[in-house]
Amino acid sequence: MSVKDELIKNKLPQHVAIIMDGNGRWAKKKGNSRMFGHKHGVKAVKRVIEAGAELELGYITVYAFSTENWNRPKLEVDALMALLVSTISAETETLVKNNVRLKVIGGVDNMPKKVQKKLQECIENTDHCTGLTLNLALNYSSRWEITEAVKSIAQSVKSNDLNVDEIDANLFSSRLTTGGIPDPELMIRTSGELRLSNFLMWQLAYAELYFCDVLWPDFTKENFYEALFDYQSRERRFGKTSEQL
Ligand code: IPE
Ligand code: IPE
Ligand code: MG
Repeated sequence: MSVKDELIKNKLPQHVAIIMDGNGRWAKKKGNSRMFGHKHGVKAVKRVIEAGAELELGYITVYAFSTENWNRPKLEVDALMALLVSTISAETETLVKNNVRLKVIGGVDNMPKKVQKKLQECIENTDHCTGLTLNLALNYSSRWEITEAVKSIAQSVKSNDLNVDEIDANLFSSRLTTGGIPDPELMIRTSGELRLSNFLMWQLAYAELYFCDVLWPDFTKENFYEALFDYQSRERRFGKTSEQL
């Protein structure tokens, strides 16, 4: 019996955001290198995408590399970039088979050229897919994104393309890297850490937050269903009272 069978089909979130955390600790526990953990982390991503596609979710955004992650040892950063390139190459076909479209948010222009090229290829090759959108957050952070949005709005005002009175929450959302994508209703973070680490701070304003102790490489489809099940038990009030709902 799987928790999947308990899920209410028409109450699933459209968009799930995930902070995949704990690869390093998982590897250390096994007496292995951090990269061993990252490699097994990729398998967990594959499981979650498959589960998301089966459940017909709209979007899954995964935090794959933050602007702060450049501060890790060069060896790890380089190996992560290489893993990204090999994973995208190896998985594009499976994405297409599962009708999954790839999208990227973050400062991709500042990623290594080889990574940019692979990402672009995969985005083009999956562009026709109409099922789940896998949104990869790479060289991403909320403060970076919000600062960029402010700059873009200021530029529009300066060039008289926008009136200050026209700036509202919707306009602001449209200038973020997630413009056009609905806000996540659910955010999952693994490995027991209880923080956002600069992830989707604007978009998660009203998301349900789900934290679990499982280290990311151990995260199974069943763990994902459990998070969705928990989400379905929450009362989303958006400022109202229970009685009003
Ligand atoms: C998450 O796992 C993956 C990335 C940030 C790339 P970590 O590498 O942060 O694993 P821990 O937190 O050190 O265990
Ligand atoms: C957040 O995880 C970034 C990603 C999952 C890519 P970290 O492990 O880097 O976060 P902190 O530094 O512990 O907050
Ligand atoms: Mg971590």
